[in-house]
Amino acid sequence: MNTTLQKSDAHDKTQVVQDTNKAAETTLRSYQFGGYEVEMEVSDTVFQPTLTSRLLAQAVKIPEGARVLDLGCGAGVLAIIAALKGAGHVHAVDVMEEARPLVEANARRNGVADRIVASSGDLFQSVGAQRYDVIVSDVSGVVDEVSRLSPWYPDSIPTGGHDGADQIVRVLDSVRQYLKPKGVLYFPTGTISNVPRTLEAARRAFGDQVELMEQVEVPFCAEFKENMDVMTRLRTEGLIDFTPKRSRHVWTLQVYRAWV
Ligand SMILES: C[S@@+](CC[C@H](N)C(=O)[O-])C[C@H]1O[C@@H](n2cnc3c(N)ncnc32)[C@H](O)[C@@H]1O
Repeated sequence: MNTTLQKSDAHDKTQVVQDTNKAAETTLRSYQFGGYEVEMEVSDTVFQPTLTSRLLAQAVKIPEGARVLDLGCGAGVLAIIAALKGAGHVHAVDVMEEARPLVEANARRNGVADRIVASSGDLFQSVGAQRYDVIVSDVSGVVDEVSRLSPWYPDSIPTGGHDGADQIVRVLDSVRQYLKPKGVLYFPTGTISNVPRTLEAARRAFGDQVELMEQVEVPFCAEFKENMDVMTRLRTEGLIDFTPKRSRHVWTLQVYRAWV
């Protein structure tokens, strides 16, 4: 699949359904991802669901009763969708401490709290010896400089490093030991990060058992348009890539599946 994604597709399905809840400093939003409608409490300090979350929600297949790890879970949208898709147990992990209470609140709100456990830690640190049927890795994966320009990464959220691939390469280098036999990993990459380095690490870990599931062209957001000088310099340095399309510029977002 290769389509151009209109700005409205990414945003229209996300609407504020209630004003700020001042006690918890969260806002309630609804998302329609992967055929499910979920209501999420989100905050300004924890990563909020984006187009990448939507693409992953669409791609991920959950065998009935599966054990699932949502790595880089943010407010927990993919953990909740995995549970709604039939997972028996979901472990949601984020390096940011603030993510855990949000995941727990969102799991309760969507009626799946009995199947979601949230923890904090760097990558697999809080996972121990557990193994999973499905791992969804959505750790930060955008070039540092682009992350900070974008509306998606408040300063408090760790980014993907100089070329955007640091976190996902760390995941790919160690993920196999956390997958059960026949286990499957889903991960995104995109041309606002180092795609070749990410795919090299994926092939090192999984050989030929790596497959492109989804691909969309994403028009530049306002912040990228306003900073064309920075975007062009980063492209000249070989850190990112984008192409003109009619009167706009687009970058490419992909979701891959890799299996044991
Ligand atoms: C692109 S966001 C995805 C959030 C969520 N999956 C979603 O769809 O809304 C990346 C998340 O990875 C987390 N993260 C970054 N580095 C991490 C690491 N080393 N270990 C665990 N989580 C990490 C960030 O805090 C952030 O919440």
